Amino acid sequence: MPLDFVLPESPVYSSPTDIRRVHENPGFGQAFTDHMALATWTSDQGWHGAAVHPYGPLPIDPAASALHYAQEVFEGLKAYRHVDGSVWSFRPEANALRFAQSARRLALPELSGPDFMASITALVEVDQAWVPSGAEKSLYLRPFMFANEPYLGIRPAHTVTYCLIASPVGSYFPSGVRPVDIWVTSEYSRAAPGGTGAAKCGGNYAASLLAQQEAADHDCSQVLFIDAVERKWVEELGGMNVYLVTAAGELITPELTGTILEGVTRSSILQLADKMNLNPVERRISLAEVFDGIASGAFTEMFACGTAAVVTPIRSLRSADVDVVFENSPGEVTMMLREHLLDVQYGRREDEYGWLSRLV
Ligand code: COI
Repeated sequence: MPLDFVLPESPVYSSPTDIRRVHENPGFGQAFTDHMALATWTSDQGWHGAAVHPYGPLPIDPAASALHYAQEVFEGLKAYRHVDGSVWSFRPEANALRFAQSARRLALPELSGPDFMASITALVEVDQAWVPSGAEKSLYLRPFMFANEPYLGIRPAHTVTYCLIASPVGSYFPSGVRPVDIWVTSEYSRAAPGGTGAAKCGGNYAASLLAQQEAADHDCSQVLFIDAVERKWVEELGGMNVYLVTAAGELITPELTGTILEGVTRSSILQLADKMNLNPVERRISLAEVFDGIASGAFTEMFACGTAAVVTPIRSLRSADVDVVFENSPGEVTMMLREHLLDVQYGRREDEYGWLSRLV
């Protein structure tokens, strides 16, 4: 039996006017719904105490080990409102699986797929009025888990908190779907072999922030990381995966090496390549090949992808000594893939792969 996330005895509901105000211009991750789901794990009892509570600050002991040693993992997925009013999520079982894999890497307890789904169903049911309708708008779901034992010794915590919060969102980038400029960092690494690069843990994102700041200093919206060993191979952006389109009809993305996060959007796009008459290729690709290929016209398009970013065209790549621009950005393939994915997510196109799960 999955955990039963008990609904609140006295739910608090924002007024339709307040919700509408948020929906008009949601931005990304700024406003949150009225409730959150919580559950506790202890080494002697396992998962228990699952319930939906009014959204609010969590009391946390200053010695809680997540605050000191970053034993934390998270996920990101979205709930989409279709024109008939129903609410759907996109491949939530893939997020549940990755959440369990991330938890294992961080020595946290796994939450089962059914328990993960039970939390999402319960929260979206209570807060369904917060799921926006309209192009590009959705309810971003953020499940996370952290070590919540007041203990400063270094070992896996015996008490862990699972929490799910939800935020109505529009486009991740403030400029919307406009092509973005990317900074290639030569100084910083995101992940090394044997490290946590394939896990979705807060520490990876903390490690990206200084490089992300460097990108912003160069008027770029994201940073591109290369591998930590040879300093040669393209890996991923600060918070999303990356793809290239070739003039020869290939859709190339860096292969999973253990230092790259396996994005749900990334893997969906690999499956959609056929539909665009493109040959999907996962391989190592060097930064030199990318720079040369853009300059020669062998690479015609490049884009970022992720749950938050969906598919975002890339206009240029900049580094300390190279600056290459895609003259035709946003490219045709990028925009076709983007539309195809959004059409499935919003129920405007047949769900051929069984990617959608109904929530409400
Ligand atoms: C996502 O696409 O869900 C991400 O994880 C990117 C970022 C907002 C952390």
